[in-house]
Amino acid sequence: MKTTIAKVGNYVEQEVTIGAWLANKRSSGKIAFLQLRDGTGFIQGVVVKAEVGEEAFQAAKNLTQESSLYVTGTVRADDRAPSGYELTVTKVEVIHEATDYPITPKEHGTEFLMDHRHLWLRSKRQHAVMKVRNEIIRATYEFFNQNDFAKVDPPILTGSAPEGTTELFATKYFDEDAYLSQSGQLYMEAAAMALGRVFSFGPTFRAEKSKTRRHLIEFWMIEPEMAFVEFDESLEIQEQYVSYLAKSVLENCQLELKTLGRDTEKLEKVQAPFPRISYDDAITFLHEKGFDDIKWGDDFGAPHETAIAEHYDKPVFITHYPTSLKPFYMQPDANREDVVLCADLIAPEGYGEIIGGSERIHSYELLEQRINEHNLSLDTYQWYLDLRKYGSVPHSGFGLGLERTVAWLSGVEHVRESIPFPRLLNRLYP
Ligand code: 4AD
Ligand code: MG
Repeated sequence: MKTTIAKVGNYVEQEVTIGAWLANKRSSGKIAFLQLRDGTGFIQGVVVKAEVGEEAFQAAKNLTQESSLYVTGTVRADDRAPSGYELTVTKVEVIHEATDYPITPKEHGTEFLMDHRHLWLRSKRQHAVMKVRNEIIRATYEFFNQNDFAKVDPPILTGSAPEGTTELFATKYFDEDAYLSQSGQLYMEAAAMALGRVFSFGPTFRAEKSKTRRHLIEFWMIEPEMAFVEFDESLEIQEQYVSYLAKSVLENCQLELKTLGRDTEKLEKVQAPFPRISYDDAITFLHEKGFDDIKWGDDFGAPHETAIAEHYDKPVFITHYPTSLKPFYMQPDANREDVVLCADLIAPEGYGEIIGGSERIHSYELLEQRINEHNLSLDTYQWYLDLRKYGSVPHSGFGLGLERTVAWLSGVEHVRESIPFPRLLNRLYP
């Protein structure tokens, strides 16, 4: 019976054939252990000389790392095996023999591994991170579908820049100037007026000269936008969504989290509601913690965010930032013109901001005034102003960065390991 490693549990004490690669091996004079992987999982194949004969045993001992194989054997339940099963091998057929696979079981430097990202993805750890990523994607669709959101795809080639003009990838759109999307938000606002509750999920681009463990040049963002939803309700949806992601990963990625050595107790605590702290109180808190140089009106850097996050064992919302720090479209607080109805969600353990969101301005006059204050072109944004002209409603939305969330939930240090082929400041290869 041909099957996959993920499904061997259905064939205990039966003979199966699996297409697999040899990840690693070790052997003695009488027995060889083949670490096999097929993408769906990892399993140990045991080759016993007395059972397969001298010739087949020698062939198994000589198999090279990453050779592709058809392996036939009997499935055994084994409590000591991480997956719960082992394969007693009866036959190995080599499909393609790999020679001198560059990533050996020894330690390699990060730059070397990054240069070999196309192969590094096969390693057990990287495989685990990609599976966690896949689970977050799956759970995202599930959560928003269960909550009556429709998926809408905003354009990637755009003529405008919602998050400020300094971090744009410019390109030519025939004779016009165009940019790669840094956020689909403005289009999602139009979509929310058509479909009520919507979310997008796509690549976004930031020409940021940042070289930190949190920054990618190309990253994937989930951007929900909700008509008739004001600031507080938006925070509730955000904390439910993030709790759902943590719960899904805990439930469906147990093996992967084990491979990654993730402290799952920390993830068990990620349950709504999340604490909220205003920007004002965060400044006071930072002063108490000895960050003397920060003053009201300054943006927070990674050390500030980490100091605040360390105070809690759940993600924390920092709310009501100064208007001057945030983009033009955010709704001012009705009681205080100098702050906006926005929140950044800061993940625990130093992973930084995973969500940025706000209520949006729904008054035509105020939005027009803000566009002017930010020296943006009224022509470019006329379509966006139109949304405030024909049945304007209070509405809110947010953007969750996929790679930061994957890094946090899987516990990898750097976002470069949470996307298959990272685009970094100095890296466009492979
Ligand atoms: O805070 P940002 O810039 O918000 C927006 O783009 C809004 N228009 C979203 C919205 O309201 N629809 O980005 C949102 C999130 C951040 O919290 C972070 O998780 C992620 O996107 N992000 C990055 N992730 C990796 N590398 C980068 N350079 C990132 N920049 C932002
Ligand atoms: Mg932000």
